[in-house]
Amino acid sequence: MRIYDIIEKKRDGLKLTKEEIDFFVQEYTKENIEDYQASALLMAIFINGMDEEETVNLTESMAKSGDMLDLSAIDGITADKHSTGGVGDKTSLVVAPICASLGIKMAKMSGRGLGHTGGTIDKLESIERYNTSIDTDAFFKQVNEIGIALIGQTGNLAPADKKIYALRDVTATVGNISLIASSIMSKKIAAGAKNIVLDVKCGSGAFMKDEESATELAELMVKIGKKCGRNMAAVITNMDIPLGSNIGNALEIKEVIDILNNKGDKQLRGLCLVLSATILSISHGWNYEVAYNKAENALLDGSAFNKLKELVTAQGGNAKMLDNTELLPCCRQSLEIKANQDGYIQSIDSRIVGESAVLLGAGREKKTDTIDYGAGIVLLKKTCDKVSIGDTIAVLYAETEERLKNAEKLFNTSFTIGAEKPDTMPLIYKTIR
Ligand code: URA
Repeated sequence: MRIYDIIEKKRDGLKLTKEEIDFFVQEYTKENIEDYQASALLMAIFINGMDEEETVNLTESMAKSGDMLDLSAIDGITADKHSTGGVGDKTSLVVAPICASLGIKMAKMSGRGLGHTGGTIDKLESIERYNTSIDTDAFFKQVNEIGIALIGQTGNLAPADKKIYALRDVTATVGNISLIASSIMSKKIAAGAKNIVLDVKCGSGAFMKDEESATELAELMVKIGKKCGRNMAAVITNMDIPLGSNIGNALEIKEVIDILNNKGDKQLRGLCLVLSATILSISHGWNYEVAYNKAENALLDGSAFNKLKELVTAQGGNAKMLDNTELLPCCRQSLEIKANQDGYIQSIDSRIVGESAVLLGAGREKKTDTIDYGAGIVLLKKTCDKVSIGDTIAVLYAETEERLKNAEKLFNTSFTIGAEKPDTMPLIYKTIR
């Protein structure tokens, strides 16, 4: 088989066989195919597309390019949750404890933040001594004992995706539905859980800008997962405005603790319950309403909060920080952003808010950047809220005046105030099963 012939076939709009796709994926991972040839093929895929069968074959081939986690060492029902990336998205840290407290084994690997979106692993590392890289045996043992472990992705999970994604990033070939779906699903399939729930974001802060394209992506990923033998569901959610009030690592841990203590943002709480109920219903086979009520009870009776404390303690973290959030990292400097006119907040651009948080030190522009765990933004007003001149819309936190000043300029472009109250937007559009 020759890569030249495969490129030519896709260039001419023809369908690739399983063997051809596998040849490309495995040989490129082993560095037997040059970047310029892989780029040409990716561009041909980008332009001419792949059908469902090709996309499933691409997913399976990328999944098996590295370690396939065998979760059979875990007793019980395993589940995983994945978000396609958002600003202020801390739902995993609420959903995983809720589901674990209700008997699901949450053996979860998460990523770090890059660019305007945050990552669960960075958030957890704002808790003193929390170890995100325990070895596989300890990971399985912990899941068997307490039902939950949350670690960083191992180096060798879907390495083909890592290489192909890096190439897509610099060749303008990221935004193709088959390439996005296979990239996300290859990692989820390799991570081994039997039940998978996807939170597919749409809006200004997301890959998919509207409900229609997010639905198309979600439907494709659900089909891929089912073809790979998993129970699947996807929830389409809005990412036009940041999720909850806090953006930044320790600030988001504080908000997670609020939700687990039945305080805080109602929309964020609602989304956490919908995601938890979806996982519980596909995994346990419970009726959705029963699952929702049980998830809500786990918040009300404190069992989900206790599960988070067990998780933090098991992974060496200082669980005292969860009872006393004053102990979490915080920044010395803060700056209030005030309304300069009366009216209603018309919109808040999540992407710009996420980028402002990076300027404050809460995220990375490059993989090698270090994070300031205390930095970030607290939004006191959100879209549709009424404001009067001089009201505080948000508070920015950073270690230096310079960071605050830079972020302030950008943050001020993230929202607009107008006389009319805008229509309210739903946070959750639909669930696909
Ligand atoms: N997230 C991924 O992991 N891959 C993509 O292609 C897009 C988002």
